[in-house]
Amino acid sequence: MREDVESTIDCVAAAPHAPLPTYYADKEQRREYLTTIFDNTAADYDRIERVLALGSGAWYRKKALVRAGLQHGMRVLDVGVGTGLLTKEAVRIVGDAALLTGIDPSVGMMKNARVPKGVVLLKGRAEDIPMENASVDFVTMGYALRHVDDLLMAFSSFHRVLKPSGRLCLLEITRPEYGIARALLKLYLRGVIPAIARLVSDSRETARLFRYYWDTIDACAPPAQILETLRAAGFRDVRRQVTFGIFSEYQAIRC
Ligand SMILES: C[S@@+](CC[C@H](N)C(=O)[O-])C[C@H]1O[C@@H](n2cnc3c(N)ncnc32)[C@H](O)[C@@H]1O
Repeated sequence: MREDVESTIDCVAAAPHAPLPTYYADKEQRREYLTTIFDNTAADYDRIERVLALGSGAWYRKKALVRAGLQHGMRVLDVGVGTGLLTKEAVRIVGDAALLTGIDPSVGMMKNARVPKGVVLLKGRAEDIPMENASVDFVTMGYALRHVDDLLMAFSSFHRVLKPSGRLCLLEITRPEYGIARALLKLYLRGVIPAIARLVSDSRETARLFRYYWDTIDACAPPAQILETLRAAGFRDVRRQVTFGIFSEYQAIRC
């Protein structure tokens, strides 16, 4: 069930969540922690993602890109490209792999990417994109919003690389509003998925990654703050669509 959710005014967010001392001590360690854990678990990512999304991941990603306005022939940047799950769907829509660039700080994730020949993969972060101003028609970022250092810096850099009237599509899992739904999602992500990961994965760190996954969802800035931060970065027509109260699609247009 999908719904359009109105935002209420809230303040701009800097970090997507407060530091999580169970995993790292400070901002510098957080970056290192993230790159290392994604590098070390990259080989398992697609397998666990299929379990996590009950096999619907590719279908959902493609639909979300179309809903945000991705069309044939558009030049696309996929931020936090990881193993390329969102990029693969974008290539199907734009029709030419050479129109896609993916960036990610984890070289290990990109080494495990199975993307069509022609896609350009670069080491880089959302906050400091190694691309020219106004060089793409569409920016997307799938499930990496919780991992950036600073949301305003990241959104400002999306704004910089987008052409005027270019479109943005951010996919993220949002903590459900209501207690029972929240408890069930926590049980699934923090209990069931790590248990499956221990059985099927090559790395013991994969179970830990998915516990971290829930902890960041739980601690993440609320949607109204994310929407307000997009506006502060210079985007217009900022909106959020939600499916099942969990899957958020943040859409916006560059002014
Ligand atoms: C959960 S994976 C998502 C991969 C892919 N987008 C997908 O839809 O499955 C998150 C990715 O974000 C990357 N990441 C972490 N910090 C980042 C940052 N500051 N900027 C861009 N990507 C980042 C990680 O290395 C990882 O590959």
